[in-house]
Order: sequence, then structure tokens, then C-alpha cells
Amino acid sequence: MVSAAEAIEIAAKDLKPKDLDPNVARPVTPLGILVQQLEQLQSAAQNESVSPQFRAALTQATRLAAGLDPYLEACTTPESAALTQLAKATQQEDWSRHFDSGETVKALEQEMLSGHLEGQLLKMLVSISGAKRVLEIGMFTGYSALAIAESLPADGILIACEVDSYAAQFAQRCFEASPSKDKIQVKVGPAAETLQQLVKTEDPFDLVFIDADKGGYINYVNLLLETQLLAPNGFICVDNTLMQGQPYLGEEQWTENGRAIAHFNQFIADDARVEQVMLPIRDGFTIIKRK
Ligand SMILES: C[S@@+](CC[C@H](N)C(=O)[O-])C[C@H]1O[C@@H](n2cnc3c(N)ncnc32)[C@H](O)[C@@H]1O
Repeated sequence: MVSAAEAIEIAAKDLKPKDLDPNVARPVTPLGILVQQLEQLQSAAQNESVSPQFRAALTQATRLAAGLDPYLEACTTPESAALTQLAKATQQEDWSRHFDSGETVKALEQEMLSGHLEGQLLKMLVSISGAKRVLEIGMFTGYSALAIAESLPADGILIACEVDSYAAQFAQRCFEASPSKDKIQVKVGPAAETLQQLVKTEDPFDLVFIDADKGGYINYVNLLLETQLLAPNGFICVDNTLMQGQPYLGEEQWTENGRAIAHFNQFIADDARVEQVMLPIRDGFTIIKRK
């Protein structure tokens, strides 16, 4: 029998990336990536030289990690038919085609869509805070926008900023299937420019959801806190603040987005104007309010 440490070494030698199917969403959350790596280790550990105890422990670790997201989904209020349809249409779209033909400013992919759990969290936050005016920075195909709109009262409004005109049109087609469509206004263009316009024309927002270019996050938060765009008791939700685990895995593993998010998280932690909580939902979700 080999020791656990030797078994890991043997298993790691056999570790090969799974075949990539472009129609299946790749893991983009710390938990999703962990599950994929555990599953790969598990198949590599089907090796005579690995002890049954080690294999059993690895199986239990994989089950613990792999079961969490499906269980969270199963215990959360189901999404509406319009949201299911929007998610399905987003998954079926060949986003690389738009990128290749230069229709989009930057790469778009189905994995950008926030989804059921985060959508329901946003709905819950809108509903318990009584928010009536919401701003979204980064709409993509509109999953979070539609979830928020579904939770707003009849006289509520969501203004959603999106730089990519193809994604914006795609979202607006999906909104047509929903009775909440009239609560959504879409602004196409770089959010930094749209926000400068909104400062001049709009009343304050009760909730702002930031889910766009990671390098812009600090500027967006500064603008919200320094102008009247965020209501005095308003709050900000920020997506992807775990960025696939990169901020805590260390600088040598940072991509450009990982670096931007690591700096953003530090900036918020050091900012005396605000208090915040980071939740390990999907790829990290931080809620920020003025002190
Ligand atoms: C992660 S996706 C948003 C996902 C969406 N909130 C959801 O829940 O499905 C990020 C979006 O931000 C958009 N974006 C990136 N940079 C932007 C900018 N400077 N201004 C406005 N939108 C931007 C991208 O085109 C993309 O559609």
C-alpha cells in the first residue's frame, strides 16, 4: 500500500484536462473548478496502488463538493419560465461567432450569465429592501436584469447598462416574453459614459448591481459614493469578487481580471466610507453599503 501523499502524486501524474465541449458551460467558480479537479483526481486514483481508504476519502470529498450547488438550487425558489427561457437561449447561442466577426467589443460567453441562485438572491434583496430604483452595470443577455425586474413593484424601474449592442438586443428580445419587461430600460454604451449621463438626469438608485469590466469596478464604486447616484441608504452588490479563487490563490495565478478583483477587494476592505460582506455564492458576491 502507498501513503496518501504518494497516492496524490500518482494520481496527479495521470491528471488530464477533460475534453472540452463548447456547448457545456465550463466551471467558472472556485467550487466548480474544485469539483472538476476532484473528479479528475478520482478517476486518476482508480489505480491498484492507491489504498481503498484514500479512495474512499477522495470519493467523500468529491461528493461533498459536487453536491453543494445542486442542493442549493433544489432548496431555492424556482426561477420563472421567462428566466429559464432566457438562460436556455443564451446557452444555445454561438457567442464565438459574434466575437470572431467583430460584432462584439470583447469576448462574450454563456458562462457570463449569473443564473438561478444569484438571480433569486438579487430578487430577495430587492424585495426585502423595498428597492424601487435599481441600476445594473453589465447586463449581458439580461438574466440578472430580468430577475431584478420581476421583484420590483409595478412602479419600479431598472436601468441596465451594456456596452455590447448584440448582447443588448438579444436581452431585449428575451424580455419580450416577460410581464416585467416594461420596468427595464437599457442603455447601450460604455458604462463609465452612461453613468456620467445618469448623474445629470436620474434620481438616486436604491440598489446598484455591478457585473461588468472588472478593471472598472473601483471607478464605478467611487462614482456611486461621490455623487447622488446611490441613495443615502442604498446598497451596492458586486459580482465575481472571488474570481475563480485567484485573489486568495496568490499573485502568480492572477489573470488580468484576477488582479483587478484582488485590488478591488483590498480597496473595499480599506475604504472607511463603507461596510461590506462577501458571500461565497457562485463566483463571489459582495454587498456594500455606506457606514
Ligand atoms: C458577466 S456579464 C453580465 C452578466 C449579467 N449581469 C447576468 O447576470 O447575466 C458582463 C457584461 O458586462 C459588459 N461590459 C463589459 N464592459 C463594459 C462596460 N465598460 N460598460 C458596460 N458594459 C460592459 C459585457 O459586454 C458583458 O455583457
